[in-house]
Amino acid sequence: MAIDPAPAHSTASTLVFHLSDIHFGLVDEEAIAWVKREIAERRPDAVAITGDLTMRARHREFEAATRWIRSLDVPVTVEVGNHDLPYFNLIERFFTPYKRFKGVESVVEKELDLPGLAIVPLKTAVRAQPRLNWSKGWVTDAALTKCLAAIDALPDGVRALVAVHHPLREVGTSGTALTHNGQKALTALAQRPVIGVLSGHVHDPFDLVQETVHGPVRMIGAGTLSQRVRSTPPSFNELHWNGETLKVRARNLGDVRTRDMQIDDVPEDAMPPRQPGEPVAPIGNVPPTDPPVH
Ligand SMILES: [Fe+2]
Repeated sequence: MAIDPAPAHSTASTLVFHLSDIHFGLVDEEAIAWVKREIAERRPDAVAITGDLTMRARHREFEAATRWIRSLDVPVTVEVGNHDLPYFNLIERFFTPYKRFKGVESVVEKELDLPGLAIVPLKTAVRAQPRLNWSKGWVTDAALTKCLAAIDALPDGVRALVAVHHPLREVGTSGTALTHNGQKALTALAQRPVIGVLSGHVHDPFDLVQETVHGPVRMIGAGTLSQRVRSTPPSFNELHWNGETLKVRARNLGDVRTRDMQIDDVPEDAMPPRQPGEPVAPIGNVPPTDPPVH
């Protein structure tokens, strides 16, 4: 099988590594050791981690995540995922939900300004919602206003990559929508110089276009670096921006080609596809039994 070789990092292009759903506590050790080596050797201009650093927001999981992130000698930004909010301690979840990020708080939801390109955060994981499933996404008016203001403040000619955890899609029925207000957010982003929206959450990579009344928005999802795989082996996205086009490669240890790694629709969750019609990547690397969730 032909493979995607790692392209050279030319000085004319900006290189971003897009990682997601590392889930310290259930991490794939071989995969993150490989990614760490890749970061040290390739020296990307930025590393964007789109949420779910941990499995259950346990202190020891955050400690491992903090050690790993601090060992990277490149600019990093981290989105908060639904798994990163205190799960067992509801008082902490409501009153100090980000306390456990101590040690990496300076990189959480941080805008990164690169030459001609900015990575702008948009929070989608919230501590509580007026519905039963709090693992789903929700773009609040405050979060969207903050993100749009950051984009509008960029110097002329600078383009934006927006970093979220939950894909900005409202798949599912209205009460179970993957990301409430996702379409509203996409419609606002379509009117701005946004190259794409980087997300995670579903544990399979994708590179899709979502239409809005104000035009299309590119949605780029990174897979997982945990043992909780869906239909692809652990992976991360390598993004090359040359000022005009953004190339996406889904890098993985199995040397699977990018187009064989990407699903063509966004599922509602990260569980392996078990029902007919659920999107599956061409590689179809679905685990025979559901991976552990603890
Ligand atoms: Fe996840």
